[in-house]
Amino acid sequence: MADVILDAKHISKYFYVPEEFKVLDDITFTVNKGEFMTLVGKSGSGKSTLLYVLSTMDTDYQGELILNGVNLRGQTQDQLAAFRNQHIGFVFQFHFLLPEFSVLENIMLPALKLGKLTKEQIEHNAYEKLKVLGMQD
Ligand SMILES: Nc1ncnc2c1ncn2[C@@H]1O[C@H](COP(=O)(O)OP(=O)(O)OP(=O)(O)O)[C@@H](O)[C@H]1O
Ligand SMILES: [Mg+2]
Repeated sequence: MADVILDAKHISKYFYVPEEFKVLDDITFTVNKGEFMTLVGKSGSGKSTLLYVLSTMDTDYQGELILNGVNLRGQTQDQLAAFRNQHIGFVFQFHFLLPEFSVLENIMLPALKLGKLTKEQIEHNAYEKLKVLGMQD
């Protein structure tokens, strides 16, 4: 059986301003390790809203979100920040690269902050990621 990396169970969400509005209605799906998924829908259908929930940045929803086998329901903001640092990459439409650092340094930043590997190992891993994308030069 394939490894489930993302398990969304009965995700629902409301907005209350300017009036009560159910933007996400009982969304259940899984994503397997190594699988690519595209989310398609007309403008205003709730794609960004769902992505904010899946990213763990929006915690105001009903249902369960399990990433890498960890149920993220009820975790503190600090716990969620630590989880994002290790498990989630998120590229926004308006990206947040730091212009004072090189491409390589931007990729290294989360691992440097985590501090689990040496700088040399982190640089090696970051460089390997660039190679996968053909961007090493
Ligand atoms: N903070 C908010 N408060 C109230 N309503 C919101 C808020 N954010 C989004 N909405 C509404 O929720 C619905 C879904 O918005 P969302 O941005 O998730 O759609 P989308 O599918 O990403 O659209 P697009 O394709 O234009 O990016 C829209 O009707 C939007 O107006
Ligand atoms: Mg959007």
